Amino acid sequence: MPADMRAASKPIELRVDLKERSYPIYIGRDILGDGTCLAPYIPGNQVFIVTNETVGPLYLQTLTNALSIVLEPGCQIDEWVIPDGEIHKTLDTYRAVIDALIASRHDRSTTIIALGGGVVGDIAGFVAATYQRGVNFIQIPTTLLAQVDSSVGGKTGVNHTQGKNLIGSFYQPSCVLADIGVLDTLPEREYLAGLAEVIKYGVIADSEFFSWLEDSLAGLRAKLSEVTAEAILRCCRIKASVVARDERETGLRAILNFGHTFGHALEKITRYETYLHGEAVAIGMVLAMQLSRLSLGTSEADVQRLSRLLTNAGLPVKLPEGLDLAEFLNTMSLDKKVHRGCMRFVLVERLGRAQVSDEVDPEAVERVLLSSGLSTHD
Ligand code: NAD
Ligand code: GLY
Repeated sequence: MPADMRAASKPIELRVDLKERSYPIYIGRDILGDGTCLAPYIPGNQVFIVTNETVGPLYLQTLTNALSIVLEPGCQIDEWVIPDGEIHKTLDTYRAVIDALIASRHDRSTTIIALGGGVVGDIAGFVAATYQRGVNFIQIPTTLLAQVDSSVGGKTGVNHTQGKNLIGSFYQPSCVLADIGVLDTLPEREYLAGLAEVIKYGVIADSEFFSWLEDSLAGLRAKLSEVTAEAILRCCRIKASVVARDERETGLRAILNFGHTFGHALEKITRYETYLHGEAVAIGMVLAMQLSRLSLGTSEADVQRLSRLLTNAGLPVKLPEGLDLAEFLNTMSLDKKVHRGCMRFVLVERLGRAQVSDEVDPEAVERVLLSSGLSTHD
């Protein structure tokens, strides 16, 4: 049944507390077809929706119908559909959106709405941050990853040929609307990749949430509404609390990158063809946990619990065969997270408690990779 024909649940509201830039996150089922949450966050009489060729045909009509009911008659609603895929998260796509905004004469009072996964959200957010020095912005994330991570916290940007997210800015939305109903059409593999980021929150910040995930995994995999909504709420609560304390990642916020130093290297080395981001992060989290064991004495039981939960969530936990140690280390050293020449890792003392370290012994990193099957070719 189309989303706009089902009764919407009353959304749960959570606030991201950033003083004058605070904003709500609405979480609920089938709330996309009810524009009442969004209307207060659209101050002008122009709206520009950015979506992609996959999400647009599924949900654009529901959104435009909802907006045309709640907005003033005569409000200009335009839409722009970008091609699907990370390879289109580029300055060229960004420029095409800007050109379309100019062509349809959007002024500084316009509202840009991102309707899609993290790729759409990051591009549309960067457009909003820069068009006429910044215009109002709303995030409507449609993947699990975007609902628990990328739509919250204000990181926006596009990729450069030399690396991911090298161009961008911090720019907070004025509202986030996460409709869990749209996850019904998300491919299973994408949903599971999002679960990796959900599990990450338990590991870095909340051991009770981690235990809840162990107990609730079947419901989560079956996309039971109450379970999914609860998981998204708890992730967003953790992310909101971290972002409120360190909006621009001068310290604490880096814990959200747990598993990403290894994960990004794996994605890059496999040319972004083998793993979805969440899958590479799943493997990266297990490696980071093993590194924590060597560096901080984290218990083997915690390493095993993480590995088991990820496996039960249908995620990979082991590096593929045939990777070269030197190439992997070199790729990690080129990561954006290298800080003053030192590789930065997020380590976990115990489930629910993480710390950022620039002082990890490189030998420990090598040991973890070698014991995970990487080979030396010298
Ligand atoms: P994505 O945006 O590429 O979406 C994954 C796939 O699912 C795409 O093919 C998309 O068209 C499709 N899709 C989206 N919603 C759907 C739906 N409801 N039904 C059917 N198909 C749907 O990938 P993603 O995992 O959402 O986001 C990854 C991106 O997010 C990366 O570019 C990453 O760098 C970025 N990211 C940003 C932040 C941040 O803080 N800004 C955080 C994490 C990740
Ligand atoms: N996804 C990491 C962050 O938002 O900081």
